[in-house]
Amino acid sequence: MKFFIDTANLAQIKEANDLGILDGVTTNPSLMAKEGIKGQEAVMKHYKDICEMVDGDISAEVISTDVDGIIAEGKKLAAIHENIVVKVPMIKDGIKAIKWFTENGIKTNCTLVFSAGQAILAAKAGATYVSPFIGRIDDSGWDGMELIHQLRQIYSVQGFETEILAASIRNPNHIIKCAEAGADVCTCPLDSILGLLKHPLTDIGLAKFLEDAKKFA
Ligand code: E4P
Repeated sequence: MKFFIDTANLAQIKEANDLGILDGVTTNPSLMAKEGIKGQEAVMKHYKDICEMVDGDISAEVISTDVDGIIAEGKKLAAIHENIVVKVPMIKDGIKAIKWFTENGIKTNCTLVFSAGQAILAAKAGATYVSPFIGRIDDSGWDGMELIHQLRQIYSVQGFETEILAASIRNPNHIIKCAEAGADVCTCPLDSILGLLKHPLTDIGLAKFLEDAKKFA
């Protein structure tokens, strides 16, 4: 399973990248706004900075909702760097645009996916990635992980090549469960990635080893 970090914060991206386990980055308009980035030029520069920092796929989301607008915006984003993946919302015009991007060699990430039906359409249009939002499904009282299992089953049986990019991750256990369910990619906040490191017995064991090491140092 590939690890992407789900943020537009350059310090957090650097910290995850320095771990040596990072395969890419996902952003969205809310994450970009959180960083205080303003204006088209600043947005483009920010994506370029991320691309120069991480050697992997970088999702940049369109904000247009009509097919012509999505295509025009996606072309500009894709021109920033060869690793840009155009992130397109799961709407009717989004599917048409994904089909166009697929036919024109531009990678896509179909976002805001909450059902198997939506994921089938994204795969049929040739999306490179499909992003089921498991945390938001959990938040609404359903089981996000069930969707990951269902998509893995459908995509495998049907031979769809679209990669399942589990998104809206809330904790380290989500990451473990996604790996178990066969997600291709998990995009996670830095805290959830770092949470995988933690176990109290590791801390206790290390403290004891270091204490004992003083006896022969
Ligand atoms: C990533 O592609 C999504 O935009 C992101 O994971 C959404 O996460 P959230 O539900 O925590 O906002």
